Amino acid sequence: MNVLGIETSCDETAVAIYNSEQGLLAHQLYSQIPLHAEYGGVVPELASRDHIRKILPLITGTLAEAELEKHDLGGIAYTKGPGLVGALMVGATVGRSLAWGLGIPAVGVHHMEAHLLAAMLDDPAPEYPFIALIVSGGHTMLVKVERWGSYELLGETLDDAAGEAFDKTAKLLGLPYPGGPQLSALAERGDPHHFKFPRPMTDRPGLDFSFSGLKTFASNCYRQNIDDDNIKANIASAFQDAVVDTLTIKAKRALDATHLTRLVVVGGVSANKNLRAHLAKVMQERNGEVFYPRPEFCTDNGAMVAYAGFLRLQAGYQEDLSVMVKTRWPMDDGESGGL
Ligand code: KG4
Ligand code: ZN
Repeated sequence: MNVLGIETSCDETAVAIYNSEQGLLAHQLYSQIPLHAEYGGVVPELASRDHIRKILPLITGTLAEAELEKHDLGGIAYTKGPGLVGALMVGATVGRSLAWGLGIPAVGVHHMEAHLLAAMLDDPAPEYPFIALIVSGGHTMLVKVERWGSYELLGETLDDAAGEAFDKTAKLLGLPYPGGPQLSALAERGDPHHFKFPRPMTDRPGLDFSFSGLKTFASNCYRQNIDDDNIKANIASAFQDAVVDTLTIKAKRALDATHLTRLVVVGGVSANKNLRAHLAKVMQERNGEVFYPRPEFCTDNGAMVAYAGFLRLQAGYQEDLSVMVKTRWPMDDGESGGL
């Protein structure tokens, strides 16, 4: 069976085709980053309009890349939530309608479950059970994954997501949107010990996160030392170390609490080199293993949606004829990723 996957939850229009026997056949993506950069963040109305412009050419292009016709499709998966309502509506409307026109099933996919399953597209894929550390622009979560569809939320951020904190601190330092990767590059030139940033919520039990205080801390350091030439690189370096340390401490805590040895790290921030180096060291010390999706599947993409949709279709899930999206959607409710 060929499953078409459509992702339009935020600022990336992405399409892919997953084949049940051959795996991923094709994937294409159009990034809206340049469109939003001049506003310093995603403008929801512009995002929706741009998804509308790009979605059909991307579907046509992905079918051509896979050397398939639309009648070769056996199902269509689209991101149903969480995300921006207008942006989600574009993918859901196109996906649901196309499936209806072709007489094939459509299935809505949870964006965070799709991120998590992106690691399964790799070879070798991690074996279940494992702890997933999901670190994206909108979410920071620790999830115990017993098997596909069994997701226990162990902890999440109480305010900003890790990627959001990277982006906001980068903006403060005058770096263009989305600042995460640029802040990380700047951090390499800085002294991580010049400023001493806190490790939020690590001094008490529990697996929740809070990153908004780090942004305020960075802002105070900046205002008090504005004349220092190396100030930006030093702040970037100490900030990055604080986020990486905090994520590592909580990931270790989750592994200890569940007696699991495998860690799967997904979402945009999992591309961070410093985080990867830190986790590699920690997991080696513990005789554990750490897995990541391939780089292009760390951030939003269609492949993860096609694959998550394939699993759900195979298990008999499908949408009725209504077009439904969910801007907020807990990952462990019975209706979403949690089966
Ligand atoms: O998963 P993703 O593409 O989008 C969401 O679903 O939110 O993640 C995007 C986030 C952005 O906040 C971006 O700044 C961050 O991931 N990011 C990074 C790096 N690459 C992307 N943050 C830190 N270091 C990086 N190398
Ligand atoms: Zn995402």
